[in-house]
Amino acid sequence: MRVLIAAITASATLCATAAFAEGDADKGAKDYNRCKACHAIEGPDGFIVKGGKTGPNLYGIVGRTAGSLDGYAYKPSIVAAGEAGLVWTPELIAQYVVDTSGFLEDYLDDPKAKSGMSKQALREPSNVAAFLALHGAKADATAEGTGEGADENTGEGAGDITVENSGEDSAQTP
Ligand code: HEC
Repeated sequence: MRVLIAAITASATLCATAAFAEGDADKGAKDYNRCKACHAIEGPDGFIVKGGKTGPNLYGIVGRTAGSLDGYAYKPSIVAAGEAGLVWTPELIAQYVVDTSGFLEDYLDDPKAKSGMSKQALREPSNVAAFLALHGAKADATAEGTGEGADENTGEGAGDITVENSGEDSAQTP
């Protein structure tokens, strides 16, 4: 019985997201200098931040399933986390970047889980997460938690994105 109560208390604590402070995107833009050696932010209209290719493109990372960018060779743990339902929010990104392998160990409940990205020493990781939240078609809708950004879907943006993917997504056979 005690064990059960402890488990309930623990999960209640995990669910208490209210403590997450929204980051400062301006400060996050500076912090992103530490990320761009490995990560570009490249949207449908070109580069927002030029960067390396060691890590996946982070355009639209908020709202994206972990380990799911087409054509990028992820390590197995992050792919497993995505398959288990991990979808990036600013809060989760902030937790992940400062303890990448630890985050995946917790998420997968597997002490052998490993990240392909080394942890980054950021004092306030919510800032870079807030910066990333600005760049992506789904970002606004996710941040607001309301609807799917109805106005945005009518623009040219949606078309551009489809064009980019159309080459490889031929697996859509009905
Ligand atoms: C030394 C290279 C390197 C640096 C620096 C780096 N990353 Fe990464 N990042 C990676 C790699 C490699 C992966 C893929 C990890 C895997 O396969 O497990 C990754 C994955 C990620 C993911 C998950 C992407 C997805 O599609 O699921 C996020 C989010 C991320 N990085 C954010 C950041 C942020 C924010 C910073 C800066 C604070 C940063 N990274 C700095 C190499 C790096």
